[in-house]
Amino acid sequence: MNGQSPSTAAEPLFNPLSPELIRDPYPFYRRLRELDPVHRSPLGFYVSSRHADVAAVLRDKRFGKDYAGRIARRFGEQMLDEPAYRIMGHWMLQQDPPVHTRLRGLVTKAFTARAVEDMRPRIQQIVDDALDRVIPEGGMDVIEDFAFRLPITVICEMLGIPEDERSLFFAGARASGRLLDPVPLSRQELDEANGGMKVMADYFERLFEFRRRSPGDDLTTHLVHAEEEGSKLSSEELTANVILLFGAGHETTVNLIGNGLLALHRNRDQLDKLEAEPSLVAGAVEELLRYDSSVQVTGRVALEDVTVGGTEVKAGENVLCLLGAANRDPDAYAEPDRLDVTRTNVRPLSFGGGIHFCLGAQLARIEAEVALATVLRRVPDLELESIDNPDWRPTFVLRGLKTLPARW
Ligand code: HEM
Repeated sequence: MNGQSPSTAAEPLFNPLSPELIRDPYPFYRRLRELDPVHRSPLGFYVSSRHADVAAVLRDKRFGKDYAGRIARRFGEQMLDEPAYRIMGHWMLQQDPPVHTRLRGLVTKAFTARAVEDMRPRIQQIVDDALDRVIPEGGMDVIEDFAFRLPITVICEMLGIPEDERSLFFAGARASGRLLDPVPLSRQELDEANGGMKVMADYFERLFEFRRRSPGDDLTTHLVHAEEEGSKLSSEELTANVILLFGAGHETTVNLIGNGLLALHRNRDQLDKLEAEPSLVAGAVEELLRYDSSVQVTGRVALEDVTVGGTEVKAGENVLCLLGAANRDPDAYAEPDRLDVTRTNVRPLSFGGGIHFCLGAQLARIEAEVALATVLRRVPDLELESIDNPDWRPTFVLRGLKTLPARW
């Protein structure tokens, strides 16, 4: 029914910041998939919600990121001069080949399946330390006291950020989350995001200085050396991509653990299955990624005219790929709204696809697997306090909880 024009109805079919969408996007996604799967939003972009279309767009070389063109067309050329957008413009996530290939090539070795499997014992230790601290208390905020500690510690250790300096720039990362949402920021939000990025950039530039004088066995030292060689990495690219690794390396995984635990507690039969059979946990992580992904959206720009699911998308048009909607497409999964930790052949699009497929996917999977398996084993009587109406962050692309209080 692509000919229909539901966006002219009083209620827009897709409003990325509506509180109902943030609370529970899945009924909205169903309407989009059924009524207008390649929807032309009045906000000036296409919204693709079917699994087959999203998977195809992500892999199609006729689509790219076209960062500068995209931001200028969507928000105005002047936005590219804002510090936050300038820094983001150097992220590998925003690049097309050959720049993307060069930047990603500098860090892939640290994220291979083998390299992250070697980190499993350390990941287990971090999880156990976090639980040792809270178990005697009889309660915790799952997000702040547990989910947050694991990925932040792992990525900070990978980047060689000393422990006592880590809190210096956490707030900066939080202030930048809204930058990814597909709607313009208010002046105040933009100022906060600029400020947050600046705090991180200043910190990392000091860290680079330190690592030049005192090299370590970490990713930052490796990248600083690449920058010193001249042709591999500019100083702006160095700063921007360490900020990207830091942000992408924790925010998303915190939310996978938080959303995952919430989903399991809302579906007690599935939680019981996992408790009875811990070997199901690795498969359960894939299902949890599918069921309520911590990244809901990524985007591509058509580099030439392309037909997507029967709709012609002109060169220069932006297509939002609704990963969360694709993951619940009944054409890809039977009974997609049912959480089933024994489901087989789950290949969620939560990590994106094509050349930008998430660099940290395997790391995130292992972190979530160890975190969930350990909390189920060590805190079997854990109860969540706000299952029905939990406190979601007001961001759409990054889906996660502000807090998730628990008792035992
Ligand atoms: C890219 C999701 C964890 C680093 C991406 C993309 C998605 C994603 C959707 C964009 C793909 C695209 O545009 O096609 C997730 C989810 C995570 C997670 C759901 C956790 C549950 C991590 C971790 C790291 C990481 C732990 C580690 C540092 C990156 C980087 C990119 C990326 C560097 C850019 C890759 C590129 O452009 O080539 N991720 N991510 N992510 N992710 Fe993740």
